Amino acid sequence: MTKQKIVVFTGAGISAESGIKTFRDSDGLWEEYNINDVATPQAWAKNRELVLEFYNKRRKQTQEAQPNLAHKALKELEKKYDVTIITQNIDDLHERAGSKKVVHLHGEINKARSTLDETLVYKIKGTEIKLGEKCERGSQLRPHIVWFGEQVPMMDVAYKMAAEADIFIVVGTSLVVYPAAGILNYVAPTVPKYMIDPSDVNVSGIKNLTIIKQKASVGLPQLVEELMK
Ligand code: APR
Repeated sequence: MTKQKIVVFTGAGISAESGIKTFRDSDGLWEEYNINDVATPQAWAKNRELVLEFYNKRRKQTQEAQPNLAHKALKELEKKYDVTIITQNIDDLHERAGSKKVVHLHGEINKARSTLDETLVYKIKGTEIKLGEKCERGSQLRPHIVWFGEQVPMMDVAYKMAAEADIFIVVGTSLVVYPAAGILNYVAPTVPKYMIDPSDVNVSGIKNLTIIKQKASVGLPQLVEELMK
């Protein structure tokens, strides 16, 4: 028998309990930094050193963090279901928890890419991209991150996956950053949907949605236990 398809859409909240800050909570990254200074093509044009330093810090924190019970619960789901994770996160905690199919919408912190040719992507050795570090064609390396104002290359693939889901789970995202936040609209109205987040998230108009108002490390293992029965 073919397995049912579960698609999971994750945001910063799933990694919060691994010690990686979210963006928009009261102690979030965008309280500490201005998006326009570090996460846009204009920021890169203006001050490459500052942008590199911002992501070098993120990379070091990510490498020190460990997957938590929520990441591990999603791995567990693969025993019974065909699981695809679509994440807005740039960390690799889903992969380190063992999840097999992970799509990164907003890039990956452990990769660098050429500023001349976006198909030249490299795994970063250590924690830093340095000013003066170049691709094989001689241009400065940049973080392999989708910045505000840039296209999201994996978005269409993700919408298609969402449309094919038998069950859809959303974890730890404020659903304010588009186009990613629109993904729920691509899931069939009849499909059971679950949202795990300790805060209120605006999901008006979404049919068949069960809201589980809990932290990911509590709500997700419980939901997974239910789904494994
Ligand atoms: N468990 C589950 N959810 C949590 C937890 C937790 N322990 N802690 C916080 N949250 C929730 C918050 O309530 C909030 O709804 O996680 C969400 C985090 O929202 P954001 O900080 O906006 O993060 P996210 O939605 O992933 O941001 C989207 O914005 O800056 C960009 O590119 C960046 O991918 C990111 C995008």
